[in-house]
Amino acid sequence: MEDVKREMPPEQETRLSLVVDAFSYPDGTKALSSIHIEIKRGEFIGILGSNGSGKTTLLKVMDGLIKDFKGKVLLDGKDIRKLSPKEIYRKMGLIFQNPDDQLFAPTVLEDVSFGPLNMGFSGQEVSRRVEEALRDVEMEGYAKKSIHNLSYGQKKRVCIAGLLAMGHEILLMDEPTAGLDPMGEYKMMRLLTKLNRERGVTIVMATHSVDLVPLFLHRLYIVSKGSIVRGGVPEEVFTAPDEMSQVKLRLPQIAELIYRLKHEDRINFEKIPLTIGEARREFCKIVQ
Ligand SMILES: Nc1ncnc2c1ncn2[C@@H]1O[C@H](COP(=O)(O)OP(=O)(O)OP(=O)(O)O)[C@@H](O)[C@H]1O
Ligand SMILES: [Mg+2]
Repeated sequence: MEDVKREMPPEQETRLSLVVDAFSYPDGTKALSSIHIEIKRGEFIGILGSNGSGKTTLLKVMDGLIKDFKGKVLLDGKDIRKLSPKEIYRKMGLIFQNPDDQLFAPTVLEDVSFGPLNMGFSGQEVSRRVEEALRDVEMEGYAKKSIHNLSYGQKKRVCIAGLLAMGHEILLMDEPTAGLDPMGEYKMMRLLTKLNRERGVTIVMATHSVDLVPLFLHRLYIVSKGSIVRGGVPEEVFTAPDEMSQVKLRLPQIAELIYRLKHEDRINFEKIPLTIGEARREFCKIVQ
């Protein structure tokens, strides 16, 4: 996979700020505690964690779907619990982890049109947005197809088209690449990077794809057992393999290889690269 140079956006104002001291589900499951997250305009942020660590719960709190938590969530400085759903959805959209929880219309066209129609755009503008969104996710030609008959990966892409067509400023994405084939995963990340860079969309994505993350994301938070245990740029967050396994994650595969070469085979790497491009440069330095 070719490297995409991550460029940090210039320091900007905070768009989303979360402090969650505690949240439990009605059955008593303690799902979140010790959460402190700040997301600035134009950032591309990852929430990284193993199964059951609390990623989906966290995104639901961010989007105002879960309200009975102890703490405070601010969207552009305003308490999210005091905003109406309309005020939230004008700015921010959430893609659910399971596309079947999101899609509801009989056909692709009807589903992707629903959001922009409700936002009050003209028929012509809706068609333009839907066409562009379907092209972005490489689902053009599927407009008339029944949602019911789509594959899982295709449904996932239609969900994303639905949000793209609405043109949110902030996108919250729950595992946007899960269930996509390797090329589909890579293309999805390229598309999100393009939205982030060219249209300035602020993106927060939950994921456990440790190999993809260092290629694309500006900053990461690691969530384990409902709490944020680490945060920073990928180089700060991906540390030693045993520290990653404590939070039920691993290093990117290329980093794991070089970590072992350095620590077990005593090959003199200056740093542990996280991507193939960086690893290639480090190898060249050693053999030259
Ligand atoms: N509606 C619910 N009622 C009770 N417990 C829940 C509910 N939804 C989630 N949980 C629990 O909350 C914890 C966090 O779940 P969550 O879905 O946020 O994890 P996740 O990090 O998104 O996991 P995955 O990677 O599997 O999607 C888990 O222990 C889960 O069993
Ligand atoms: Mg989840």
